[in-house]
Amino acid sequence: MIQHETPIQESDLHPDPILEFGKWFQFARDSGLATPDGMTLATAAKDGRPSARIVLLKDFDARGFVFYTHYESRKGLELQANPWAALVFHWDPLKRQVRIEGRVQKAPRAESQQYFNLRPFESRLAAWASQQSDEIPGRQVLEDRVTELRTEYPGDEEVPVPPFWGGYRVVPDRMEFWASRPNRLHDRFCYSRAETGGWRIVRLSP
Ligand SMILES: Cc1cc2nc3c(=O)[nH]c(=O)nc-3n(C[C@H](O)[C@H](O)[C@H](O)COP(=O)(O)O)c2cc1C
Repeated sequence: MIQHETPIQESDLHPDPILEFGKWFQFARDSGLATPDGMTLATAAKDGRPSARIVLLKDFDARGFVFYTHYESRKGLELQANPWAALVFHWDPLKRQVRIEGRVQKAPRAESQQYFNLRPFESRLAAWASQQSDEIPGRQVLEDRVTELRTEYPGDEEVPVPPFWGGYRVVPDRMEFWASRPNRLHDRFCYSRAETGGWRIVRLSP
């Protein structure tokens, strides 16, 4: 079991970084953090200008790390133009950080619909109502749109997933695990995908 400020040895690491992430994420969840699934998502426009924001990790497995969003938001447009993304988790009380880099793929529609159905009714309407990242003249625009949607969907019935909304899966080709150690001599381990398949693991200077 992972404990606070436990030194990390090469021999402690799982050869698969997604399984190693699973241990760290479980530790973060078990530690009672308010938002262990909050992660910074960095994207970059085609001209190289970066942008970053927090999104929530909704799923992860051997295929990658999934978040849900509006496909025509700023991040969505940037990912359309340049599919490379980076994720950062910072679990401050645990003094740990995980960085993930890779290309994104859109999640299959069925997967997005399945997740969308789990969201509360009001959140499903909000996804329809918000043209995320667009300028709006005032909050009333959103309230009016939700009122209209309530007429369209009067009960807590199935609301279709909006065509402009869904999941992205970040398929990692590089992952880094950072753990604080005294006197800033922290532990850092980087996994990168080897050309032969599998992962190459190296220790990085802090
Ligand atoms: C704790 C937290 C969780 C968030 N989760 C999401 C999320 O899962 N998906 C999302 O699209 N935006 C999420 N947001 C809002 C984003 O940070 C951001 O404001 C929004 O996606 C628009 O970003 P963009 O204009 O760069 O596309 C979250 C914000 C916070 C503070």
